[in-house]
Amino acid sequence: MKKDFAGTVSFITGASSGIGEAVARELVARGGKVALVARRLERLETLVRELGKDNAIALVGDVTKDGDLESAAEATVKKFGKLDITIANAGFGISGKLAKTSINDYRKQFETNFFGVLRTIYSTLPQLIEHKGRLVIIGSVAGHIGVPGTSAYSASKFAVRGLAESITAELQPKGVSVVLISPGFVTSEIRHLDNEGILHSDSKDYVPPWLAVPAHVAARELVNAIKKRKRERILTGHGKALWALDRYLPQLTPLLAKFLP
Ligand SMILES: NC(=O)c1ccc[n+]([C@@H]2O[C@H](COP(=O)([O-])OP(=O)(O)OC[C@H]3O[C@@H](n4cnc5c(N)ncnc54)[C@H](OP(=O)(O)O)[C@@H]3O)[C@@H](O)[C@H]2O)c1
Repeated sequence: MKKDFAGTVSFITGASSGIGEAVARELVARGGKVALVARRLERLETLVRELGKDNAIALVGDVTKDGDLESAAEATVKKFGKLDITIANAGFGISGKLAKTSINDYRKQFETNFFGVLRTIYSTLPQLIEHKGRLVIIGSVAGHIGVPGTSAYSASKFAVRGLAESITAELQPKGVSVVLISPGFVTSEIRHLDNEGILHSDSKDYVPPWLAVPAHVAARELVNAIKKRKRERILTGHGKALWALDRYLPQLTPLLAKFLP
């Protein structure tokens, strides 16, 4: 495999599972070094053993806690000498119709999916500026289309997209590229978590297996977008189709939404 990420150091939140874990594997396979951040340290340590201690470091960090990411960023620079790619990926989904959710649910959702992204940015931005690096923000197709039954999640992803769009022009003169990634359905643990973020591994994914794209396939496309410093990349064919439908035939989206789980 081409070592096109040789010499780079990536800081990945939410690297203990799903998309973050797959992106870490892809980056190391392409010659990069990775700092893996999440709350489940044992999972990160298992991944470090797989990727090699010279290529990866496991750092416990909760994106909802002030200070955790600053410590993780410091430890990354101490180990690898710099940090030039930040991947703000940690996130989860609260589901439920407006009438069944509370302000507290929306706060919880934003604390991880929006303020967690902001904490990740603030803690690593000085390094990104110093090295003219790349800031990768993981949004969602749900950040383009308001999906009924998941308004807290959709709102948090719309917010992240607004943030990405706004800061793109601000950071460009400093040499930092912002890359917004908006995935459709990807195989991961996200649809096996309840609204408290507790994992139910044996629960059924409401997305059929033929529709969800394997995480390693999404990771390859995502890393290619980072390489090209793309402004936005929508991942998955169905994600692109839904996005186009909503943009050009928006009257059809509410009809389609009736069929969504
Ligand atoms: N999979 C999809 O279909 C899909 C579609 C669109 C967008 N996305 C987005 O992709 C990103 C990754 O999700 P995924 O699908 O890979 O889900 P996942 O398998 O559940 O992974 C989520 C990751 O986020 C971490 N995380 C959650 N809360 C955290 C916190 N407070 N502090 C630190 N880390 C935290 C989890 O680690 P710990 O529990 O160990 O902390 C885990 O590593 C999310 O932003 C999600 O919204 C996913």
